[in-house]
Amino acid sequence: MRIEAFLDEAAAQAIREVHGVDQPALLRPTQDPKLGDYQINAAMPLSKALSRPPRELAAPIAERMRAHPAVAEAEVAGPGFVNLRLDDGWLGRELDRQLADRERDGVPAVEAPKKTVVDFSSPNIAKQMHVGHLRSTIIGDAIVRILRFVGHDVIGDNHLGDWGTQFGLLIVGMREWGSDEALGESPIVELERVYKLASERAKDDEAFAERARAELAKLQAGDPENTALWQRFVAATRVALDEVYARLGVTFDEWLGESAYHDMLPGVVERLLAEGIAREDQGAICVFFNEWDDAPADLKKQKEPFIVRKKDGAFLYSTTDVATVLYREERFGTEKSIYVVDMRQSLHFKQLFVVVRRLGVDMELEHVGFGTVLGPDNKPLRTRDASGNVITLASLLDEAEQRAQARMLEEGVDLPADQIPEVARVVGIGAVKYADLRQNRTSDYQFDWDKMVSFKGNAGPYMQYAYARIQSIFRKGEVDPGSVGGPIRLEAPAEAALARQLVRFGEQVHQAAESSLPHLVTDHLYGLARAYSAFYESCPVLRSEGAVRDSRLALAALTGRQLRRGLGLLGIGVVDRM
Ligand code: ARG
Repeated sequence: MRIEAFLDEAAAQAIREVHGVDQPALLRPTQDPKLGDYQINAAMPLSKALSRPPRELAAPIAERMRAHPAVAEAEVAGPGFVNLRLDDGWLGRELDRQLADRERDGVPAVEAPKKTVVDFSSPNIAKQMHVGHLRSTIIGDAIVRILRFVGHDVIGDNHLGDWGTQFGLLIVGMREWGSDEALGESPIVELERVYKLASERAKDDEAFAERARAELAKLQAGDPENTALWQRFVAATRVALDEVYARLGVTFDEWLGESAYHDMLPGVVERLLAEGIAREDQGAICVFFNEWDDAPADLKKQKEPFIVRKKDGAFLYSTTDVATVLYREERFGTEKSIYVVDMRQSLHFKQLFVVVRRLGVDMELEHVGFGTVLGPDNKPLRTRDASGNVITLASLLDEAEQRAQARMLEEGVDLPADQIPEVARVVGIGAVKYADLRQNRTSDYQFDWDKMVSFKGNAGPYMQYAYARIQSIFRKGEVDPGSVGGPIRLEAPAEAALARQLVRFGEQVHQAAESSLPHLVTDHLYGLARAYSAFYESCPVLRSEGAVRDSRLALAALTGRQLRRGLGLLGIGVVDRM
């Protein structure tokens, strides 16, 4: 169930009954658990609407809520809040239901599933997949998993940057400086090396730049030799990318790169012209938002137009993105498109969304932006080491696994030696993902190896360790965690506190899905792991007896399942021992 939605509805019902008006209950978790579990904030706005003092309006709401089976206490506080405390008997029964729901762990499915495309990862060929693309990959994958779990029909699409100006430079550059062998061995490194040389040369060698443009035009016109070269670049990059995605456990339903839309581009520009959305300016075709009466204010101020065709006839990133929206609508019947892309592209997406609206597209469009990963110096993390070599993503993952293993050995492992590398792999990759996902995606964050592989605090290894410790209880007690059935009875304060975390799972997952904020899931899991550890310290499980033991085993099993499920929604694995 969604606990907040459920109580909010009950409170709105109470308001209707006692005051005869439809007014949102504005239910929130209380800041201070001493005051209660949830509070209703409706009395203040109600007081304006009904011209009566808020406390006077709050009193009958509290009285009505006291009669609700989920509520043990309801008190008016302060200027007119109604503080609610959950009923422990009700809570125990709710958790019994969650325990019995092996399929969904008590998380309801949405009533109206949406056909949703999540556009994520989307690195550019010939350029290192940098930390920004790693963020997009990790966050995008978590969003796909969360949306799918709550019942949406999701297509994950890797909108590969596999078309565009870099290929002219690459083609001439490869002919000039490229090594076939290096291209086979580490294609991304080789392509990036050649690309750098070529783009530097193009800066002060106009003839070279002209050759590159000519090769690009040939490629775009279907020249067989250039097409073959391009295919090699793409294929080689795919191999390297596939390796990284396999290590991360990330998959896509579609790989519709920019090149997939090439044939649509002339038509897109014609339509924009015909519908008066774009116009010619010095040979280029552009959308000028400052010329629109009804453009959103921030776009109206922008002098920079949205260019869809350059004066040399070349199409751009923007043109492709317009085509992509049209394609997604037509081909998949997409109702919602989510773009998991660096926040620095927010102007592009704002412009794009306004343009396609004009074209009559009515799908929901959302730019799920994220901040920058910073290095120890608080500047954007450098993807080169001190001697200027690129730090590949693969080497970053290697280091994460090594560091995870070192930390595990320091902590003392509970594992046969031959299992250590595999567990270190799960822990290392999980640590990288968790460190990213636990941040509110809109903020920048500092990359910090030590925090990342920590067994304490809000970090991946800590969460996995909490899970493994729960499994060890079942091993020690020779109990199958799948067979425990409660009933859950909440007597000790630590049991009641743990239960209050457990019951929030569905709410948190749904809020994360609605807001595309995976850190709501990590926050929940962290709170859960802490509540569990307080419970474990004060409430013996295996050494207790009878009904108390059954209940505590059920709380432990439920916690383990929620940790596993929640981490799974983030693309993070668990291990039974570590
Ligand atoms: N390839 C782009 C980049 O690296 C990201 C593409 C995002 N998706 C999109 N439909 N624009 O910046």
